[in-house]
Amino acid sequence: MDYDKALKEISKIVLCNDKKNILQEIVDYLFKNFKTYSWIGIYFVKDADLILGPWQGTNATEHVRIPVGEGICGSAAKSGKTEIVDDVSLDKRYLACFISTRSEIVVPIIKNGVVIGEIDIDSDFYNAFSKEDSIFLEKIADIIKNFC
Ligand code: SME
Repeated sequence: MDYDKALKEISKIVLCNDKKNILQEIVDYLFKNFKTYSWIGIYFVKDADLILGPWQGTNATEHVRIPVGEGICGSAAKSGKTEIVDDVSLDKRYLACFISTRSEIVVPIIKNGVVIGEIDIDSDFYNAFSKEDSIFLEKIADIIKNFC
């Protein structure tokens, strides 16, 4: 999938949908169009926890609430920096959700300098996420910060 084309299509989703549907439409779009994005979820920061919002994937996760600072998700929320893990089995912070997951990316959603949420993507493939994916997803995070 072409990242620029995807960004244009995501901008269209933002323009053409009710505010309440936009986040779900975007995770659905990413799941449908990026074959290595096996599970996509948006977490919202609430007090000291991350709370799962819209998601798309084959299975539901039991990690619907993650304390900030725990797991790869909690690390990214704490630091405000994108995390890419090429092989989750080698990362001690990893909180397992799906037996099929091999790699993961977590991109913070930052508004006015504060982490208000994040995009979490699990892949069933090793090394699924490149610098291009992080740049692409950081642009999406910047768009959706207004809809969280
Ligand atoms: N693997 C994450 C937990 C969330 S699930 O991937 C949906 C982590 O280590 O924080």
